[in-house]
Amino acid sequence: MKIDTFELERRQSLWENTVEYNLTESGIHPFTLEELLDANQIKQLNNIRIGYGQTNGSIGLREAICKLYPTSTQENILVTNGSAEANFISMWSMLEKDDEFVCMLPNYMQTYGLAQSLGAKVKPFYLKEELDWQPDLEDLKSIITKNTKMISICNPNNPTGSILSDSAVKCIIDLAEDADAYIHSDEVYRGAELDGNEIETVYNKYEKVIAVGGLSKAYSLPGLRMGWIVGPEEFASKAWSYHDYTTISPSVLSQQIAEWALQPEMRERILSRNRKLLNENLEFFQDWMDTRKHLFTFVPQEAGAMSFVKYHIDMNSTDLTEKLRKEKSLLLVAGDCYGMDSYLRIGIGSEKEYLEEGLNRFADMLEVLIDT
Ligand SMILES: Cc1ncc(COP(=O)(O)O)c(C=O)c1O
Repeated sequence: MKIDTFELERRQSLWENTVEYNLTESGIHPFTLEELLDANQIKQLNNIRIGYGQTNGSIGLREAICKLYPTSTQENILVTNGSAEANFISMWSMLEKDDEFVCMLPNYMQTYGLAQSLGAKVKPFYLKEELDWQPDLEDLKSIITKNTKMISICNPNNPTGSILSDSAVKCIIDLAEDADAYIHSDEVYRGAELDGNEIETVYNKYEKVIAVGGLSKAYSLPGLRMGWIVGPEEFASKAWSYHDYTTISPSVLSQQIAEWALQPEMRERILSRNRKLLNENLEFFQDWMDTRKHLFTFVPQEAGAMSFVKYHIDMNSTDLTEKLRKEKSLLLVAGDCYGMDSYLRIGIGSEKEYLEEGLNRFADMLEVLIDT
């Protein structure tokens, strides 16, 4: 099976640990165990037997996940190693050669690459900057047919951080219903809304929804590799049998921590710490942008730690990010990774001083570029 290079991940994998300033992160400064857990919980972790555990996810964790998806039960849930595995299993178990797969772009690009490699007919619809990164619904309507098997959305979106309007969500559901298509909804940034108003999942709004979530982004716990699929019982069971072929089971240690992280009190503590950090950093970043209005166009994100900016410098985005990496030891994501040259994705979820220094280095480079 042939697969295109996953540019976004590959470039990060290659360079993120070699630069002094890595602003490619789509998540938020991660917690340590000590910051997260109390002494009693650490003691409990020490006594867990490190077996395989329940391969579709422990009962306690699936119970905690259910609370985030109205009307779901444990039978609707499969716990995975990261939401990346959840996306992978969703595509792999659902798409056959020549299936029509309609997908929102830009997005994380994983489902896009996978669907192509599985031989599906991939039909993109676009979020548009001039619509504040909302989709053009007329474009969407024009590409859906009776043969559409799945519509894939990423909400809140990577990389723009936009949140689909209620009318866009309704339109997508209506179109899926008409075509009797599945909706695959990657909601891993749910919980990272800057205004604190958590979006509703589309899970319970239509019967054929496969929702994906996880702890890597809004919860800033990517190293736990905790993700999940929530879908119709029949699908969750099918996905579990595919999971037997991928990683068998998620780690029992991570599952225990995830179960605690999803309890209302700890969940609120995590999400509010992250919201505060994001709002402070976004304010700083917005000021930085405002003093460079001639160089950038920027629609601030509504959720998450990624700022997706258009730059008005005559240079290709891969060349620009390579120049920054080599000359300033600063890593940013090139718009090319999304097929959108002239854009950059800048992660603002790090500690403030780190973000400031990274941006100082970017500013130094801009001065040189403008002078030449
Ligand atoms: C939209 C989206 N989905 C899924 C993932 C994969 O995340 P993880 O496997 O760490 O949960 C990412 C990572 O950046 C993402 O942005």
